[in-house]
Amino acid sequence: TIELKTLLGSTGMTTLDPGFGNTASCSSKITYIDGAAGILRYRGYPIEDLAVHSTFLETAYLVIYGELPEPGQLKEFSEKLRDNADIPAEMGAFIDAMPRNGHPMALIASAVNTLAAYYDDSVDPDDEDQVELATIRLMAKLPTIAARIYRNSIGETPIEPDAALDYVDNFIRMTFGDKAPTGELGELFNKAVGMLLVLHADHELNCSTATVRVVGSSKADIYASVASGVNALSGPSHGGANQAVLEMLEEIRDSGISIEDFLEKVKAREMRLMGFGHRVYKNFDPRSKEIKVLASQILDSHDNPDELFALALKLEAAALQDSYFTERKLYPNVDFYTGVIYRTMGFPSNMFTVLFAIGRLPGWVAHYREQLHDPAFRIARPRQHYVGSDERRYPGQG
Ligand code: ACO
Repeated sequence: TIELKTLLGSTGMTTLDPGFGNTASCSSKITYIDGAAGILRYRGYPIEDLAVHSTFLETAYLVIYGELPEPGQLKEFSEKLRDNADIPAEMGAFIDAMPRNGHPMALIASAVNTLAAYYDDSVDPDDEDQVELATIRLMAKLPTIAARIYRNSIGETPIEPDAALDYVDNFIRMTFGDKAPTGELGELFNKAVGMLLVLHADHELNCSTATVRVVGSSKADIYASVASGVNALSGPSHGGANQAVLEMLEEIRDSGISIEDFLEKVKAREMRLMGFGHRVYKNFDPRSKEIKVLASQILDSHDNPDELFALALKLEAAALQDSYFTERKLYPNVDFYTGVIYRTMGFPSNMFTVLFAIGRLPGWVAHYREQLHDPAFRIARPRQHYVGSDERRYPGQG
């Protein structure tokens, strides 16, 4: 159970709120969530509209700079990202020297951290031009870094960014090379990846964004703060859940356990139903609705029905008829169907959270930047409720 206690200590009133379930640590203009009503808006625009009508770059611009871009602004933003997509040769060599079987999230966090060393002309949080330069570099280079790490993991030569391609196409090409789908299927994949990135672009003070803010509050540079966000995202209770969902579905399929028996194990607390439940959404996650529709579209483009998607549909239906889940208001979250989509596209499961990170980057950057201009800006420093022993004598000291 979550406890919310008000404690009176020698330094005044302190609230004990494990997991910060009821604690706001800042004011923000970026993202609005009404968990009970299933509402999510970036800068006032409903997620449903952005998912269908906006591109990832347009949404990223909106999240970071506060307004939808005029066509000229979007063109300039896109050009800057294309011009900055490459990474220094030394950094490429550094990435290539990393363990190739390491989890991509660990490698990406390390690579992002080193950007501060390769680009030390953009590490001063008090210099707006430097923060802007770092914003462009992060947005431009994260897909390049991610694709290189993926290519290394499968023993293929890294592919350099192509300035002629748009953001999403370029990432798909750097990842899959000439194995990337073309024609109608290529367009559908581009649309699907773009939409998933839009749906992940921000989510107010989730664990990784809160981490970026906490690290940034010490005036650490934006690269260090975002690298910390990548690490926070990697856990299975957060972004790592999309990989965990797929592994759960594979386990159900491979073990032959019935859905009913699997749910009994969840209810006996032997495991969690991954991709279900959310700290804020207690009716439905609006992103999961859009993603379910997308999953049907992607899977319809394939000749054979996808067994894991079919399993996920059955699992969702069974859970939603079970009072354990309905009483606790546990519904599918953003991660429940994303893994199935990415798998169909050919991404290995350990890349799913990487795609989440690419999508979430605009949110991390926007929060880092907003915090710097917050009149209430101060270092994040929670208090604790001490429950350890009283003063004790060191042995032999009386
Ligand atoms: N499966 C089974 N039971 C669950 C689940 C689940 N997925 N999620 C919550 N519960 C139960 C808890 O056991 C608890 O039951 P109790 O009151 O009888 O003890 C109750 O529901 C409330 O759960 P909390 O853990 O208090 O909820 P919290 O808000 O702290 O956690 C979280 C939210 C981490 C998302 C949780 O629902 C979970 O672990 N889900 C699975 C992992 C997942 O999908 N994470 C992705 C989240 S979305 C994102 O980060 C992009």
